[in-house]
Amino acid sequence: MANPVKTRWYKDAFIYQIYPRSFCDGNGDGIGDIRGIISRLDYLEELGITAVWLSPCYKSPNDDNGYDISDYRDIMDEFGTLDDWKEMVKGMHDRGIKLVMDLVVNHTSDEHEWFKESRKSKDNPYRGYYFWKKGRGKDGKKPPNNWISRFGGSAWEYDETTEEFYLHLFSKKQPDLNWDNPKVRKEVQDLVKYWLDLGCDGFRCDVITYISKVEGLPNGKLLGDDMFTHGPNIHKYLNELNREVLSKYDCMTVGEAAGVTVEQAILYTGEERDELDTVFQFEQQTGNAIMQIIPLKVNHKRTKAIFSKWQKGLYGKGWNSLYLENHDQPRCVSRYINDNPDMDDGLRKLSAKMLAVMIYFQQGTPYVYQGQEIGMTNTTFRDESDHVDIMSRNALKIVKKYAPFLKGFAMKTLQKISRDNARTPMQWSAEKNAGFSAAEPWIKVNENYTSINVEEAKNDPDSVLNFFKKLIALRKGNEIVINGTYDELPIYAESRKIYAYERVWKGKKLTVVCNFCAEDVPFDGKAVFGNGARGRVLLSNYAETDLNAETLRPYECIVVG
Ligand code: GLC
Ligand code: CA
Repeated sequence: MANPVKTRWYKDAFIYQIYPRSFCDGNGDGIGDIRGIISRLDYLEELGITAVWLSPCYKSPNDDNGYDISDYRDIMDEFGTLDDWKEMVKGMHDRGIKLVMDLVVNHTSDEHEWFKESRKSKDNPYRGYYFWKKGRGKDGKKPPNNWISRFGGSAWEYDETTEEFYLHLFSKKQPDLNWDNPKVRKEVQDLVKYWLDLGCDGFRCDVITYISKVEGLPNGKLLGDDMFTHGPNIHKYLNELNREVLSKYDCMTVGEAAGVTVEQAILYTGEERDELDTVFQFEQQTGNAIMQIIPLKVNHKRTKAIFSKWQKGLYGKGWNSLYLENHDQPRCVSRYINDNPDMDDGLRKLSAKMLAVMIYFQQGTPYVYQGQEIGMTNTTFRDESDHVDIMSRNALKIVKKYAPFLKGFAMKTLQKISRDNARTPMQWSAEKNAGFSAAEPWIKVNENYTSINVEEAKNDPDSVLNFFKKLIALRKGNEIVINGTYDELPIYAESRKIYAYERVWKGKKLTVVCNFCAEDVPFDGKAVFGNGARGRVLLSNYAETDLNAETLRPYECIVVG
């Protein structure tokens, strides 16, 4: 039963993701922080976004940049204090911006009190908060099963004190919580309530599809994923969290759902099911390949097919999340269009706008990742030592150990897919360190900051930033975008170059056309727009748009309604 206080505001939200470490440094130590965010709230308001998803800001030893939490109820020292956080939330709410926090509860840090207790002895009251198991082999030193960590190597770590292994699907400093233990679920409920009572408006639920493991933790196929992805009790646990806490607040949730199919997404996000509100699917990023070791070459026809599948599949049954970037993915211009850091700037701007139009006029909750709104690109890392992400460093370690001859290849691959691509400092200005910090930043600034930055974009009427402002304003409250049906135009359904779809609601229509190519492509404007008589151009990335045109220009996008 739907709770009367639920306004489902996420259906007409535009969410901006902040990765606090890289957003803005308020105290000049080279690390982004909450005071830095506070100093940029006017910028966010001007952009027109209505909510922020903040990556973890809790106490953490930072083995995985805050995704390893040692105290769920306090703020990371480097980011500030709980009072700073309260001031930030107030500043957001005063501007009509909601705050979605990151909820990282598949695992804690090994420095969390629960884990410190848990490892002390087999009969410690916190032992059952985690997964402990005897090893295999004569000496018991072989991992209990074949599960592989997402960051490489076995998912099990041997612990001398009690001579047993503990499970960690991520780094060994991120032990997995045992959700089968009702005490753990109660702890999670309490901490969710804690933040909601403090004024937070929702949660992005980190790797939520991994929280339920198959009983007995048996060997799985390949990397073992089938034993912990969408596990046996996942729906029960999410439903319980919703019933006990989430349903009592006007909040939203979005689950990070690696490996999710349309059918499963309907189970997670169906309104009457009371689990999550939305999920991030990964099919668009990796085609469901396990981990992102091998960057799939982008095939636009496939991209279109995936979007259409999700749009049609969830229509009226669930709710999509619309994103192209986040802190784990490469920059979209580099990934979908051109990964040459010296790409022509005009084409960069055109294509960044086209990608925005392509995704944001679909149905779902839109997310923009910091820097995407100015068309930031992948890093210019050249040196092994430039890489700071644990996933990249582990990958390089493994390659150097087992296949040193592949190091060059690995460096090239990282250039394309490393998570650091999204984590270089936000480019605010052409000043030193891109205006991110007065001090040397914790991670190298992208070399193109002197030309790609917020100051420059503010002064350029034709900038990606100004285009985003228009797009966000246009989308807000638009019934066709929020509720309309979605269909690709059959005339271009088979095209590798053109993506054209329409949205229809109560007899009103929006038509969206995108050219994925750096060249002109033949186009039948008359057929698509009905002689230009039926609508007007609401948005486009060229100064003049002819609805009867017989070609689409490089990366041209047009929204007609
Ligand atoms: C999610 C986060 C990622 C993190 C991992 C472990 O995938 O987005 O950054 O490393 O979970 O918490
Ligand atoms: Ca700082």
